[in-house]
Amino acid sequence: MQRKILVTSALPYANGSIHLGHMVEYIQTDVWVRFQKMRGNQCFYVCADDAHGTPIMLRAQNEGITPEQLISDVSKEHQADFSEFNIGFDNFHSTHSDENRALASQIYLANRDAGHIEARTISQAYDPEKEMFLPDRFIRGECPKCGAADQYGDNCEVCGATYEPTELKNPVSAVSGATPITKESEHYFFKLGNFEKTLKEWTNSDHLQPEVTRKLSEWFDSGLQDWDISRDAPYFGFEIPDTENKFFYVWMDAPIGYLASFKNFCDRTGVDFDSFMKPGSDTEMVHFIGKDIIYFHALFWPAMLEGAGFRQPDNIYAHGFLTVDGKKMSKSRGTFIKARTYLNHLDPEYLRYYFAAKLGSGIDDIDLSLEDFQTRINADLVGKVVNIASRCAGYLSKKCDGQLSDLLADADLFDSFVNQAEALAERYEKREFGQAMREIMALADRANQYIDEMKPWALAKEEGKEQEVQAIYSMGINLFRVLIAYLKPVLPKTAEQAEAFLNIKPLNWADIASPLLGHTINKFTPLMTRIEKEKIDAIIEESKENMTETKPAEKQTASNTDIDPIADEIQFDDFAKIDLRIAKIVNAEHVEGADKLLKLTLDIGLGKRQVFAGIKSAYSPEDLLGKLTVMVANLVPRKMRFGLSEGMVLAAGPGGKDLFILNPDDGAQPGMRVK
Ligand code: MSP
Ligand code: ZN
Repeated sequence: MQRKILVTSALPYANGSIHLGHMVEYIQTDVWVRFQKMRGNQCFYVCADDAHGTPIMLRAQNEGITPEQLISDVSKEHQADFSEFNIGFDNFHSTHSDENRALASQIYLANRDAGHIEARTISQAYDPEKEMFLPDRFIRGECPKCGAADQYGDNCEVCGATYEPTELKNPVSAVSGATPITKESEHYFFKLGNFEKTLKEWTNSDHLQPEVTRKLSEWFDSGLQDWDISRDAPYFGFEIPDTENKFFYVWMDAPIGYLASFKNFCDRTGVDFDSFMKPGSDTEMVHFIGKDIIYFHALFWPAMLEGAGFRQPDNIYAHGFLTVDGKKMSKSRGTFIKARTYLNHLDPEYLRYYFAAKLGSGIDDIDLSLEDFQTRINADLVGKVVNIASRCAGYLSKKCDGQLSDLLADADLFDSFVNQAEALAERYEKREFGQAMREIMALADRANQYIDEMKPWALAKEEGKEQEVQAIYSMGINLFRVLIAYLKPVLPKTAEQAEAFLNIKPLNWADIASPLLGHTINKFTPLMTRIEKEKIDAIIEESKENMTETKPAEKQTASNTDIDPIADEIQFDDFAKIDLRIAKIVNAEHVEGADKLLKLTLDIGLGKRQVFAGIKSAYSPEDLLGKLTVMVANLVPRKMRFGLSEGMVLAAGPGGKDLFILNPDDGAQPGMRVK
C-alpha cells in the first residue's frame, strides 16, 4: 500500500538568516521524507517563509525598503541555503501569498460562523509617537519586582519575574523611545476552550510523542485560554475579513501557510488538494517542529482545523534544540553559525550525517561537539564507508575493466546485510536515526573486516587467483552498495555520486536485496574527503566576524533599539557616589530553580562578595571563572529568593545571548577603584 503523506517543517521567520539550529529540523525532516520516497510512498514535503508580523514590518522600515522587498530578498537567501544543504522541498512558498490569504480567510470565517471567535475590548500599551500598539517585547523598562533596568515588557531577565507590560516602571517604547500610553482597542479571540474535549482525545492518542502529551496535560490542567488572534494597524499581514484595520496575528496565518504552500503545489501539479484536506481522508499530514512551538501546533492548530471542517494532523514530531560544544549557540564564542557560513567551508553531507547520528525520536537537545564532529565524520564516513569502495575499485577497473563477478563470493554475508533492510526501515520510520547510523556503521565495520580477512591484495600476487580476487572485490562493492542505499536518506549527494560510480539507476529500498552480478562499474573518484580542523576553525572565525552584523535571526527587536537613548544629565557628585571596583570572579555556579541567574563570588581585594547576576543566558560558569570584571560595590544588599546579593556586576548589551560583561585592561587588580 502506497501511503500519501504531506510533510512540513516549521516555517522560518523571514527576518533573519538560517542557522545551524534551524538545520536540525530541516535535516531531520528531509531524511524522513527521502526515506519515505525511497520506500515508494508518495510524500509531499512543503515549507514556506513565515513573512508576517511586527518585527518584519519594523526591520523593513529600518532598512528603508518595503516588507515585500525584504521578504523576497530573504526568501531567495533561505532557498539557496536549503538547496545547498540538499533539503528536497517539493514546494517552498510564503505566508504572504494569495493562497494563504484565501485559506486564512476561509478558516477564520468558518470558525467565526461556528461561534468560535469573540470580539473583546482590551487595553494595551501604545506608542503615541510611532502611533502603534506595542507587543510586549517592544516595551522596555525597570522590573516592577527587582528594579533591574532595561527589561522586556513581559518578563525580567534578572529576577525571572513575569508581569504585565503596564506594571513596568519608567517604560519606554523600544521603537521610538517614547513613553507608552495605555489605549483600548477591540481584539478578536479564538475560543480554544470550545475544543477542549476533542483536543484532549486527540492529544492522548498516539499522534504525539509521550513527553509532548505530558506537557499538554499540564496545559489542560491550567485551563485553555482564549487566544488573541488580531493585531491593530499598522501591521504587516492580512486584514481580517469584515473588519477595519484589524490584521491576523502572525501565528494565526503561519500554520495555515503549510496548507497554502501545499495548495500552490497542488495547483501546479494536479494533486487533489480538497480530497487531501477532508476529514477522514486516507492521506497523512505530519508536522516536524521544534519543542518551543508545541503549543501552537498541538493545540491551536488542530482546533482551528476542526473549527473549519478540515482534517486533523496525524502526527506532530517535536525535536530538541541545538547546542554547540555543550552550550547554547553564542555569537561571542563564534558558535552562532549561519547555514551560509558552514557552506562556505564544509560539505553539507557531513552535517547531515552528524545530526542524523545524534537524532532520536525524543525532544532532547542535541549537541554539535566540534571535535567529535570531525572525528566522527573522518572515522565513519571516510574511514569506514567510502573506504570500502576505494579499497575495491582499483583492482576491478585495472584488471577487470570494471566488471564484477557473476557470483557472490560470500552469499551469507550479503544476506546478513540485506536482512537488516526492514529493521533499518523501522528505525527511519520511527525517527531513530542515531540508532540506524550505529547499526549501519556496524555493517560497514563488518564489510571492512571481510576484506581484511580475505586479503585479496595478497592473493593478487599469486598465480591463477584472478577470479577469486575479482570475486572478493566484487563482494566488497556489493556490500558498499547496500550501505549506500541505507545511508541514502541522509547522504543524498554522496549516494548520487556512488550510483554514478556503480553505474546503476537511483537506489530504492526495494532494490536493496538484488546484488550486482556480472555488472560493469565506472572508474572510482573519491566520494568524500576528511575534514581538516582548519575548516572548522575558519567557520568559528567567520561566525565571530558575523557578530558585528545587524540582527541575529532569533532575536526579534527593532534595530534602532540597539542603542539606548542617553539618560538624563547628572552632576559629578552623583557619579562619585557609585563605588565601582575591579572584582575577580573566584567562583561561579548555577542557581537551583533560577533560569536567568548565576551565583558569583567576587574577590574585591578587601574581601569576598556574593552577587546574583542575570547573565546565565550569555555565559556559563566556566566561562567566567578567574575573569576580572567591574562591580558596583556600595549598592544596598538585596535579599533575593535565592539569597543575598551584595552588589552588581556591569555588563553591556540588550540581554539574552547579547550580554557582555566588562573586563578591565591588563594590569588592573582586584579591589582597585574605577573612577
Ligand atoms: N515562524 C515560526 C514557525 C511557524 S510554523 C507555522 C518559527 N520560526 S523560527 O525561524 O524561529 O524557527 C523555525 C524552526 O526552527 C522552529 O521549529 C524552531 O524550533 C527551530 N529552531 C530554531 N532554532 C533552533 C535551534 N537552536 N535548535 C533546534 N531547532 C531550532 O518558530
Ligand atoms: Zn526583576
